[in-house]
Amino acid sequence: MPDRYDLPAGFRWGVATAAYQIEGAVGEDGRGPSVWDTFAARPGAVRDGHTGAVACDHYHRYPEDISLMKGLGLDGYRFSIAWPRIQPGGSGPLNPAGLAFYDRLVDALLEVGITPLPTLFHWDLPQALEDDGGWLDRDTAYRFAEYAAVVADRLGDRVPAWITLNEPFVHTVFGYAMGVHAPGRALMFEALPAAHHQLLGHGLAASVLHERGLEVMLSNNLTPVQPASSDPADVAAAEAYDVLHNRMFTDPVLFGRYPDLSALGVPDDIYGAVHPGDTDLIHAPGLDGLGVNYYNPTRVAAPTDPGLPFDLVDIPDVPRTAFGWPVVPDGIRQLLVGLKELYGAALPPVTITENGCSVDESADPDQPRIDFMSAHLDALAAAVAEGVDIRGYYTWSLLDNYEWAEGYHQRFGLVHVDFATQTRTPKASYTWYRDLIAGHRAGRPE
Ligand code: BGC
Ligand code: BGC
Repeated sequence: MPDRYDLPAGFRWGVATAAYQIEGAVGEDGRGPSVWDTFAARPGAVRDGHTGAVACDHYHRYPEDISLMKGLGLDGYRFSIAWPRIQPGGSGPLNPAGLAFYDRLVDALLEVGITPLPTLFHWDLPQALEDDGGWLDRDTAYRFAEYAAVVADRLGDRVPAWITLNEPFVHTVFGYAMGVHAPGRALMFEALPAAHHQLLGHGLAASVLHERGLEVMLSNNLTPVQPASSDPADVAAAEAYDVLHNRMFTDPVLFGRYPDLSALGVPDDIYGAVHPGDTDLIHAPGLDGLGVNYYNPTRVAAPTDPGLPFDLVDIPDVPRTAFGWPVVPDGIRQLLVGLKELYGAALPPVTITENGCSVDESADPDQPRIDFMSAHLDALAAAVAEGVDIRGYYTWSLLDNYEWAEGYHQRFGLVHVDFATQTRTPKASYTWYRDLIAGHRAGRPE
């Protein structure tokens, strides 16, 4: 059996974060409000009313955080750029202080030999754009491409590869269909125009980046879907869920067309959102790499609620993270081998842009995270051995941070953060990851 030391030479090791989850400083240096500031302020929206106003104070403490990254020996750092720092009103005038922050961050990373891998959109839409309809409004896609151009013009001389969107599936379903994330809309399937407009924004931004000679990736949350039984009704429900979670976001980009949406009861033109030529705009720029965020598989049964074409059910007999998510390391192999079978030559090289777990603060010495990461990396090596081209692994996350609707309750970091004092303390998984990176570079340890 291959293991993590068999991952190819030149494999890129990283960590991932996102702006709203770590930066804080939401009112500083001209940043405008985002949908997450608004949502987090809504009573009952986030556990214990936590907000990202301070988070890890990374906006001020980034030098210390980069030292921690240097200590890990990373190749790359995936972070996101806060659109409301760059264009506080969502369009038009630029905020020089916002651009200057990312300029300093990029330079500080390069100084210690870490390649910056920015994500342009990780859910913190400028509130001004949400007031005009947010991602339900087609114009947001065009505003996104303008924002991409501004940032690429400023940082593109030092940043070779870019991720356009983070997890359009989660943003659409949690933010627009179920209302459990910002912007808190609960439109069920009528949320799907927000998915199309994000993908259109991806395509337009990808053209902008390619015109500047930059590489483009798109990161989605993907899940291998398993039917609860071989009963045809369960199998059909699993196929419908696979369309919604995975194929709807990957087929247009890699194949240039949407999958059949009829099992979801959604019209082909997604309620009029898809205009002639749109799928070409999404597909034609091409993709230099597919970013895969993997956390867990999904088990699906035939619907019991007539409003939905599927039921999500528990995966029996598996360990759980502190968040309650099932731990199924082989799911990452199944997912990646499945992508290769489905997309064939259309599948670009893959980078794992997120994978990790929340662990209770009391867990000592952070062994569940070490077990999670080592098992997932071994399964990743198995996928490579089965012929999937995988270039790197960015674990979620460097620091304990603001876990969206869970506030500060889920701790995903290699580094513990005391949110009262902002003290950073590397956990056992930090040392483990550092040693793995060094060991992999040096060849298999004895
Ligand atoms: C899912 C994860 C997903 C997360 C988004 C969970 O319910 O199991 O796969 O990443 O939601 O926050
Ligand atoms: C997101 C992260 C999030 C992580 C754990 C993904 O859904 O991209 O922002 O913190 O998973 O839920």
